Amino acid sequence: YTVKLDASDISKGTYDTFMLKEIDEQPAVMRKISSHYFDGKKINVDQKMLEDVASADRLYIVAAGTSYHAALVGKDIFENLADVPVDVELASEFGYHMPKLSKKPFFIFLSQSGETADSRQVLVKVNELGYHSLTMTNVANSTLSREATYTMELLAGPEIAVASTKAYTANIAVEAVLAKAVGEFKGVKAAQELDLQEQLALAANAIQTIVDEKGKFKEIADDYLTGKKDAFYIGRGIDYALSLEAALKLKEISYIHSEGFAAGELKHGTISLIEKDTPVFAYINDGVGAAHTRGNIQEVVARGAHVLVISNKKYAEKGDQVVVPEIDEMISPIVSVVPAQLIAYYASLARGNNVDQPRNLAKSVTVE
Ligand code: AGP
Repeated sequence: YTVKLDASDISKGTYDTFMLKEIDEQPAVMRKISSHYFDGKKINVDQKMLEDVASADRLYIVAAGTSYHAALVGKDIFENLADVPVDVELASEFGYHMPKLSKKPFFIFLSQSGETADSRQVLVKVNELGYHSLTMTNVANSTLSREATYTMELLAGPEIAVASTKAYTANIAVEAVLAKAVGEFKGVKAAQELDLQEQLALAANAIQTIVDEKGKFKEIADDYLTGKKDAFYIGRGIDYALSLEAALKLKEISYIHSEGFAAGELKHGTISLIEKDTPVFAYINDGVGAAHTRGNIQEVVARGAHVLVISNKKYAEKGDQVVVPEIDEMISPIVSVVPAQLIAYYASLARGNNVDQPRNLAKSVTVE
């Protein structure tokens, strides 16, 4: 069955938590984004915005938390499809320590709520400097949406759980829509060749296969995380960006100290934390890094780690515990993040935590 996505629906329906409902809504969100932004081969984005982004010599993507992690994935997407260099910046740092900017910068703000104070204080400065900007947000008419030059909606429907899930995957999809549109406008071959509608349809189906086997991820959470205080997600390239998001999901709702780490960097110190049965979740979607990450897996296994490999079908090897369907590597976090969302969900439930409202956190951080 596919979950009906009703923008006005802020009830849990038949779900015990908003978070699980929002995880399940992700296939519908992918389809909604595709049908909203594509009209046949035509992409429905503001033409003036397209020209504005295309004329930039550098994109600065500014965000916080999960939106920052979506920005890290967006860097690869824009650099490949729109052929433009991208800097990804933490909002809380960028506004007060602004680096030397390029001659023709364009700013993209990612914010589910559109109200994050850290991000807004940057937009205020960007406006004062006279630069143009775009806010991608899940809340139409939010502050960041109104105060930027342009805006694009994530169309994920209300996201109530504090832990952001469907907004992360939606944000990656909408970044890909814009990057493809800009790339086509500039005549970039990679953009012309990417059938993004097909990829979003594949992503929707792939997510559906994962959420249809939730029991497997409850078992994994129980097996790897019961009684544990520390956990690692590791990967290279796109899998490093993904590991940061996977670790944030786990830490913010289960309160297990989780780190997302560059697999190749472990040996430069952090591997000293690995001991018998330390849970290490290793991502392998990134083709360039796959063989090296498998080497890093052996290094942590040798130190007693309890490793779970989440690999893309294309790079899967015998013994990988979780194999997800293949989609274009650039947007593979849309699918591969779902196991991590579910593992975090079940780890939090097992500890009796309030999954939707974890301690000390707010859905929208409107203070700096
Ligand atoms: C993510 O699960 C957290 N809820 C948090 O990191 C959030 O992504 C961050 O506060 C940014 O919020 P925004 O996307 O609404 O700007």
